[in-house]
Amino acid sequence: MTSFSHSIILASCFIFLSNSKSEEEFYKMDEMTRLFSPSCWVPGKSRDEVMNEFFAGIREAYDSLMSNDTIQKDLDIPYGPDENQKVDVYGDVKDNLLIFFHGGYWVEGDRKYCLTPVPATLDSGFAFASMGYGLATNDRNLSDCVSDAVKGVEFLLQKYPNISNIYIGGHSAGAHLAFQAAVKVRNPRIKGLLLFAGVYFLEELVGTEIGNAINLTIDQAKLNSCDPTLSDGMFLMKTFFVGGLEAPKLIEQNVEFVKGRRGILKQFPHLSHYTLMTQMWNDYSMIKYGLGVE
Ligand SMILES: *[C@@H]1O[C@H](CO)[C@@H](O)[C@H](O)[C@H]1NC(C)=O
Ligand SMILES: *[C@@H]1O[C@H](CO)[C@@H](O)[C@H](O)[C@H]1NC(C)=O
Ligand SMILES: *[C@@H]1O[C@H](CO)[C@@H](O)[C@H](O)[C@H]1NC(C)=O
Ligand SMILES: *[C@@H]1O[C@H](CO)[C@@H](O)[C@H](O)[C@H]1NC(C)=O
Repeated sequence: MTSFSHSIILASCFIFLSNSKSEEEFYKMDEMTRLFSPSCWVPGKSRDEVMNEFFAGIREAYDSLMSNDTIQKDLDIPYGPDENQKVDVYGDVKDNLLIFFHGGYWVEGDRKYCLTPVPATLDSGFAFASMGYGLATNDRNLSDCVSDAVKGVEFLLQKYPNISNIYIGGHSAGAHLAFQAAVKVRNPRIKGLLLFAGVYFLEELVGTEIGNAINLTIDQAKLNSCDPTLSDGMFLMKTFFVGGLEAPKLIEQNVEFVKGRRGILKQFPHLSHYTLMTQMWNDYSMIKYGLGVE
């Protein structure tokens, strides 16, 4: 990508969360949309400030990795014909791999802009695969996003037949796709999930601005919600990471998911939906914990 297209992507990233809505529009936002919008919940910061800090952090990670010649890169590997059906692999692929899905409520975001976990991942002896997927726009629905996630993971399982230790991770809507891919692919080489500030139960999104942007129907919401029992019997180590300065519905959903000991919940009271991601660039503890190498 050229630096020109980067700035377009960054400028349009995560429209619901970053859109420079006027204050007036903000207060008109319906309550359920607000309860699911992470940029509304960082005390003392405007939504624009929250998003600009996040973009600065993820851009720094991307620029730094691109200019670091000591890191092996295998970029833009296609797993399907569509523009976003590509995966970028960082690091030397041996026996350990973390596959990661970016967030953006299924309509925004980019596999080049979720790379803050890379240094911690490489330092843990894992390679990192940032998985692109077709976004839910116009002729694609949420089921199509899930189907890309599954295809992408199956592609890497075949491409690297010798890797026996695979973890899948994701941020926000990417955590939803990570869980869906893991339980649908259901391969014993997949050993764990690292789920950062995920959204899992989708029915309450129907009728919100977030749901409307993907024409989310009750049927699509039910079909694509994550049933925690689906990973029972898979021997997956599941770690859920969530900040305290987070959209209340996302905190609620993470707490709900781990009920019945269906995962470990790691809570970080001082982190937001976004600083949870940017923090990892320098602080390797979350990734190391999730990968079981701490
Ligand atoms: C390049 O990446 C390696 C491995 O993550 C890291 O140890 C090194 O500090 C990086 N170099 C620069 C200049 O950022
Ligand atoms: C949602 O539905 C409308 C009308 O049926 C259609 O024009 C639009 O393209 C759809 N949007 C998405 C994201 O599917
Ligand atoms: C979602 O899209 C796929 C194909 O793009 C289609 O087969 C499926 O029927 C759609 N699902 C719903 C519930 O509209
Ligand atoms: C997998 O391991 C076998 C045996 O070590 C080796 O011959 C083969 O080239 C490896 N395959 C790949 C795709 O790395």
